[in-house]
Amino acid sequence: MGMARGNPVDDIRAELSEIAGLDQDSARTMPPAFYTSPEFLEIEQEHLLRRQWLCVGHTGEIPQPGDFFTAELLGEPLLVVRDQENKVRVLSNVCRHRGNLVAEGKGNTKRFMCQYHAWTYRTDGSLLRAPYMEDVKNFDLKGCALPRLACEIWNHFISSIWMPPRSHWRPGSKGCRPSSETTTTSYATFSTPAKMCGGRTGNA
Ligand code: FES
Repeated sequence: MGMARGNPVDDIRAELSEIAGLDQDSARTMPPAFYTSPEFLEIEQEHLLRRQWLCVGHTGEIPQPGDFFTAELLGEPLLVVRDQENKVRVLSNVCRHRGNLVAEGKGNTKRFMCQYHAWTYRTDGSLLRAPYMEDVKNFDLKGCALPRLACEIWNHFISSIWMPPRSHWRPGSKGCRPSSETTTTSYATFSTPAKMCGGRTGNA
């Protein structure tokens, strides 16, 4: 057992290093904190999970234009929707105004209206209407779309990723049977929607 150093992540790392150096005959399991430590989970999310394609759902859940469901991925609220052009989108579910959730549950809609101040988004995430803001000088309606995450579909499974992948591999590549679904691959230019939308982005 490694010597406790006070920092839980350092403790886990020290114990993992110790285990890695053992002969096979002396092998032992991971320390319990490896599975339970919130600090270690944060590191895994930052360095591993946010950089991997993760499944967020199945296209069978949204067969028709306007179908949507909400999800949470690594603590961030998402909106998975088939837009009016039949493209599957994975959007931030955080209103660009003051951070309210844009949608809840699942359903079918032509647009999403935030219940707080009625900012209204199209199903592709673009902002359609922002009451009381249209006349505000320099208010950029186009600049307030819901951030889009990269999205790929493989065998009807919808995958998304927080950060641009380190390799060109993506679901459906390397011999995987490609899907006939229309996908959207564009990398959001933000770290996480919740961090970005924690404050207002409009003027009111
Ligand atoms: S927080 Fe969504 S419209 Fe104000």
